[in-house]
Amino acid sequence: MTGNELRQKFLSFFAGKGHTIVPSSSLVPVDDPTLLFTNAGMVQFKDVFLGLDRRPYKRATTAQKCVRAGGKHNDLDTVGRTARHHTFFEMLGNFSFGDYFKREAIAFAWEFLTRVLELPPERLWITVFQEDAEAFQLWQEVAGVPAERIVRMGEKDNFWAMGDTGPCGPCSEIIYDRGPEHACGAPLCALGACDCDRWLEIWNLVFMQYERDEAGNLTPLPRPSIDTGMGLERMASILQGVDSNFDTDLLRPLINAVEALSGLPYDRGEAGFPFRVIADHARACTFLIADGVLPGNEGRNYVLRRILRRAARYGKALGVEEPFLYRLVDTVVAIMGEAYPEVAEQKEYIARVIRQEEERFHETLNEGMKVLNGIMERAGKEGRYTIGGQEAFTLYDTYGFPLDLTEEIAGEKGFKVDRAGFEEAMAAQRERARAAREDTRAYEFALAFAGSLNDISGTEFTGYERLEDTGKVLALVRGEERVPCLNAGESGYVILDRSPFYPEGGGQVGDQGKITWDGGEAQVKDTKRLPDGKILHQVTIARGKLACDEEVELKVDRERRLAAARNHTATHLLHRALKNVLGEHANQAGSLVTPERLRFDFTHFAPLTEEELRAIEKEVNLKVLANLPVTILETTLNEAKTMGATALFGEKYGEKVRVVKIGDYSMELCGGTHLHFTSEVGFFRLTNESSIGAGVRRLEAVTGTAALDLVTREYQELTDIAALLKVPTFQASGRVRQVLEKSKEMEREINRLRDRLAAYTVTDLLKQVREVAGVPVLPARVEAADAEALRELADKVRDKMGSGVVVLGSQHDGRVNFVAMVSKDLVKRGVHAGNLLREVARIAAGGGGGRADMAQAGGKDPSKLDQALAYSLKVVAHQIGQG
Ligand code: ALA
Repeated sequence: MTGNELRQKFLSFFAGKGHTIVPSSSLVPVDDPTLLFTNAGMVQFKDVFLGLDRRPYKRATTAQKCVRAGGKHNDLDTVGRTARHHTFFEMLGNFSFGDYFKREAIAFAWEFLTRVLELPPERLWITVFQEDAEAFQLWQEVAGVPAERIVRMGEKDNFWAMGDTGPCGPCSEIIYDRGPEHACGAPLCALGACDCDRWLEIWNLVFMQYERDEAGNLTPLPRPSIDTGMGLERMASILQGVDSNFDTDLLRPLINAVEALSGLPYDRGEAGFPFRVIADHARACTFLIADGVLPGNEGRNYVLRRILRRAARYGKALGVEEPFLYRLVDTVVAIMGEAYPEVAEQKEYIARVIRQEEERFHETLNEGMKVLNGIMERAGKEGRYTIGGQEAFTLYDTYGFPLDLTEEIAGEKGFKVDRAGFEEAMAAQRERARAAREDTRAYEFALAFAGSLNDISGTEFTGYERLEDTGKVLALVRGEERVPCLNAGESGYVILDRSPFYPEGGGQVGDQGKITWDGGEAQVKDTKRLPDGKILHQVTIARGKLACDEEVELKVDRERRLAAARNHTATHLLHRALKNVLGEHANQAGSLVTPERLRFDFTHFAPLTEEELRAIEKEVNLKVLANLPVTILETTLNEAKTMGATALFGEKYGEKVRVVKIGDYSMELCGGTHLHFTSEVGFFRLTNESSIGAGVRRLEAVTGTAALDLVTREYQELTDIAALLKVPTFQASGRVRQVLEKSKEMEREINRLRDRLAAYTVTDLLKQVREVAGVPVLPARVEAADAEALRELADKVRDKMGSGVVVLGSQHDGRVNFVAMVSKDLVKRGVHAGNLLREVARIAAGGGGGRADMAQAGGKDPSKLDQALAYSLKVVAHQIGQG
C-alpha cells in the first residue's frame, strides 16, 4: 500500500463513520502567538475544543501537514538518527467535538488497524495514563487486548498537550512491536522503558478534557472531546514491510535523488545520516515555503533558515559543492503534489527561494568557517573549550550560522557553545527590535480575558450594510476585569449584541466613532475582534455613565471608514496589477489598510524598476477610471477556490467565506469593507518601494483625498522651484540641469583658484623663514581646512625650501593641527620631526608624533598656537646641539 493510498483509506474510513473530511490547515498557525508551527492535527481545531469557535460538524478527519522543529514539540536533533522522527510529517487524525469519547475512539482505531489495515493484533501494545482506569478497562472490553499488553505510564508519556498552554488531556498510545530482532539490546529494552526502533508508536488517542493556563492550572473543557494522531510515514513503513520511514515510498525517492546528486550510495547505518537529514529537510523546506514562510532571522523564518542551511551543510559533507537542495523540490512535488496542490502550484517559486538561500549560505559559510576556526584556535590556546555566547552570536548575526550549526561544527572538535550567553545576546538584540513592534499585544490581551466572557452571546456585525445602528450593552471591561458600568472619564471595552463597527482584521484597522445613549456619550477609539467573533469597542466615556443592558446608538466615523475602504479596494487592485506586471509569483505577504494609507508586502526578488512602478500605478488608475463594480458574495471555501479566488496564507477561513470581486479583474477572499465602485478610489498614487527581507518587497500608496493632498504638495513644491528658477513649470528640470552644470564648472574654477592661492601662500611663507644655528626654520600659522590640507601645504613649502625645517599650525573647530617636515640632510644632523612636534604640541595641550622627516600632531588649546610655533625654534636649536 502506497503512502497516498494509506492517507486516502484513513480519510474514507472515518468519512464512513460520519466524519467530515477537512483539508489540512497551513503550517503557519492562524492567529496563535503561542505556537510556532502547526504541530498536530488538532491545531486548527484548538478554539473548537476550547469552546471559542463552532463548526457545522461534530466529527472531523484530516491529513494534516505538521512541523516539529521548535517549541514544545521539536524533533530537529533526532532526525536521521532514528528510523522514525521528522521535522515535517503528516498526521492522520479523527476528532470528536463533544460527540463521542473514549469508547468509540478506541473502537474506531482498533477496527481500522486490525480490519482495514489487517495488522496482526498480537503485535499491538497499548499504553494508558496511569490514573486512567477507564481506558485500561475499555481496551480489554472493546478491543479485547489482554491486560499484559496494556502498560500504564506517567504524565510524560501519556498526558498530551499541544504547548505550554491550551487544550490537553490523558492519552493512550498504540504501539507496534517490530519484533525482538529490532531490539536495541539494552537490558531494559521493553515497552515503556525503551525509546529504540523496536517499539513504534503509531497512533495517539488523546482524551481532550482540560485547558491548561500559564500557571499550569487545569480547567475542564466545556465538552470532553477526542483528538487522535497517526504518523502517516510510520504506518507506511509497517505496511510496506520496511524498517525505516526513510525506506517508504514517501521518502525513499528523495534519498535516491541525493544518491544521484552526490554520486554516493546510501547506507542505512551511520554513514547514511546526511542522506536522511537532507531528505527530511527538503520536505520541510518545500512545505514551509509553500505556506508562506521565508528564510529570515526571527521566529518561524529563522527556523526555516536553520533547517535549510543544515541541509545545505550536509550536502557539503557529501561532497556536493553547488546549491542542490532546490533540485529536490521536484521530487517532493512528484511524491506529494497531488495531495497538496499548493506545493505543485508553487514549485518554481519554492525552488527559487531555496536556491537563493543556498547561494547566500555558501557565500558566508567559508567566511564564517574561518572566523569559527580562529575562535577555536584562540580558545584552545587559552585552554578554554567553550565558545562564548557573544562569539556564537556574531557568527549567527554576521555570518548566518544558526546556533546548532556552530554547535555541530564546534562539537566535532570537542568544543561546547555557551548557549545561555548566546540566548542573552539574542534577547538583547530582539529587545531592540521589539520596541517598534506592538501589533500582537492587543490580541494577547484580548485572549487574556476572552474566557471570562463565555456567558454572553456574540456580536452580530452589521457594518457591511450600515454605518449607524442601535445595540444593547452586554458586557463592559476595564483593565482585564468585567465591570457593571464605566463612568465619565474612564476607558475600557464595550461588547454589544450588535455593531456596525468594523473590528480590525485582514490588515484593515478597526473603526472609530461614537456611542451615545440617554444622557451620555463615548468615543470609540478602536475596534477589535475576539477569536469567537465578539466585537470589542475600545472606548473612553466623554459624558454620563454607561451600564450593562443600556440601549445605545452607534455611529461609525463615516469619513474614516470611507477612506479605509478606498485603500482596501485599491489594495485588491494593486495585488492584481502586481501579478499582471511582475508575474503570478507576486503573492501577498502582508497588508496594512488604514484611512491614511495602504501598505502591501509581497514576494518578489528584485527592486522594482521605475518603469514597473509606473506600469503598476497606471494599471490601478485605469481600473479606477473603468468604474468597475465591487461585488460581494458568500460561499464555501472550496467553491471560492474553484472560482479562482485568491486566498491567503495564514488566514483563517470559516465554513462560509466572503469573496470580494472587482469586475472581472480581481477576486479575493476578504472580510474587509469595500467601495461599491472603483471610481470612488478617486486616484491612486504609489509613495514608496522598499525591501523588507529576503524576497519580500513593500509598496506604500495613498488614495482619495490623501492622494490629492500629495499631488497638491508636489505641485506646490514644483511651482516654488520653477518660480525660484524664473521659468515655466515644465521647464524646471531643464533649467535645474543647466544650473547644476554651471555649479560644477564653478567648482572646477574654485579649485583652480585655490591652487593658485596656495602658490601665493607658499611664496609668502618662504619670506618668513628664520635661521637657527645656520639652519632655515619656518614656523608659521596658516589657514587650512583640515590636517590633510595642512600637510599638502607643508609639502609644497618643503619642496620649494630645499634644506630646512617646516612647522605649520592651523586652527580649526576649536582645535589645532600641527605638521612638521625636515629635509634629509637635517635628519642626518639629528633634527627629528616627531620629537619636535611632541614638544611643540604639548604647549597647545596636545600630543602626537611621527617619523624623523614628517610628523603630525593635534592640540586642544588654540590660544597657545603662536606660542607653540615659536617654541619650535628652541627645540630645533636644541636638537642641533646649540640650544
Ligand atoms: N495531538 C496528538 C498528538 O500529536 C494526537 O500526538
